[in-house]
Amino acid sequence: AFAQAAKPVVASAATPTTAAQNVVIDRALLNAFKALPARFEDPKNPITPEKVELGRMLYFDTRLSKNQDVSCNSCHDLNKFGVDGKPFSTGHKKQLGGRNSPTVYNSGGHLLQFWDGRAANLEEQAKGPILNPVEMAMPSAERVVETVKSIPGYVTAFQKAFPGEADPVTYDNLAKAIGAFERQLVTPSRFDKFLAGDDKALSEAEKTGLKKFLDQGCQTCHNGAAIGGSLQKLGLVVPFQSKDQGRFDLTKKEADRMIFRVPTLRNVAKTAPYFHDGSVKDLQTAVKLMAQHQFGKQISDDDAKSIVTFLDSLTGELPKSYIAKPKLPASGPKTPKPDP
Ligand code: HEM
Ligand code: HEM
Repeated sequence: AFAQAAKPVVASAATPTTAAQNVVIDRALLNAFKALPARFEDPKNPITPEKVELGRMLYFDTRLSKNQDVSCNSCHDLNKFGVDGKPFSTGHKKQLGGRNSPTVYNSGGHLLQFWDGRAANLEEQAKGPILNPVEMAMPSAERVVETVKSIPGYVTAFQKAFPGEADPVTYDNLAKAIGAFERQLVTPSRFDKFLAGDDKALSEAEKTGLKKFLDQGCQTCHNGAAIGGSLQKLGLVVPFQSKDQGRFDLTKKEADRMIFRVPTLRNVAKTAPYFHDGSVKDLQTAVKLMAQHQFGKQISDDDAKSIVTFLDSLTGELPKSYIAKPKLPASGPKTPKPDP
């Protein structure tokens, strides 16, 4: 039981007349968090502008899907904070997947990828959806490579992104390029300025919410640069009903039952619906459910609202010009036509 009993030191934002004008946050507690880096580096996949530009094109290219009508951006819309806003996404032939699509923004800060943590990093993750029969449904990695090789502009772009390689157009390199692009998808917010020491970067109401968040102990799981990212049990105190048993479904180990990857809380105000099953439409309800299932506590609507006010301050700036859909290289004579 790592939850601290909630002991509001200041009045809630709902009673401004008595609210302290200077909410003081114990800065030692902020060590749980980290400011966002400029990008999430991984020495195994050094970021170069050429790789990022290639990854950006691939991210938007529907020709990586069987019917040439789905791209990464279909389910992780970069203009919509990296999500599609639906409980479950529609992929190949409008089939529904079984989990909510998480945001790609700041996902480089997660220790593992996917709700059950089945991919170690973004490069490994990127190989999944293209071959997933309900997402992009390509029949094999070889077919993806063939398609990419049939597009002359891509062959050149792979050569530039992976200089010195005899055969640069590979499925591994495609995933590396997409991974490098995603590693740049960070959205700094006022909270980062606050972490850096600027007490004025958050309003009094936001600080009140942050204090409640810390008093509850939410940062035991929602921490680090992504404010999330590790594997934890959903329903730690009060079981959460779900057909999806998280990591257990993957490993069949009893200890993994209901273990899910903690999602980032950055931009969470913009990424409804919530939870792995997309079952909750509004953030205030999600916050109340967290207190209930993780701590066995009923928190008041006012406290939940106040925490939501803090969570709003985690909404960051999207790198607008950089995430606009790039011009994609033209198909060649051998580029496959959509599969009916
Ligand atoms: C998960 C990127 C295509 C739906 C993820 C994650 C990333 C990602 C980084 C993990 C995020 C996290 O765990 O926090 C990509 C890329 C794609 C792509 C680079 C293109 C190559 C798609 C498409 C769909 C989709 C087309 C919808 C049809 C989902 C869903 C999950 C997910 C439902 C969660 C699945 C689970 O955890 O089991 N994606 N995605 N993605 N994506 Fe995508
Ligand atoms: C999910 C907030 C405490 C683990 C979430 C979500 C929110 C949230 C808003 C939904 C995010 C989304 O779907 O994108 C909070 C707040 C907390 C708190 C305000 C304190 C009151 C905790 C604690 C743990 C935890 C202490 C770990 C013991 C998780 C996990 C999920 C999650 C595993 C994903 C659930 C799923 O699979 O659907 N949290 N959280 N949270 N949180 Fe928390």
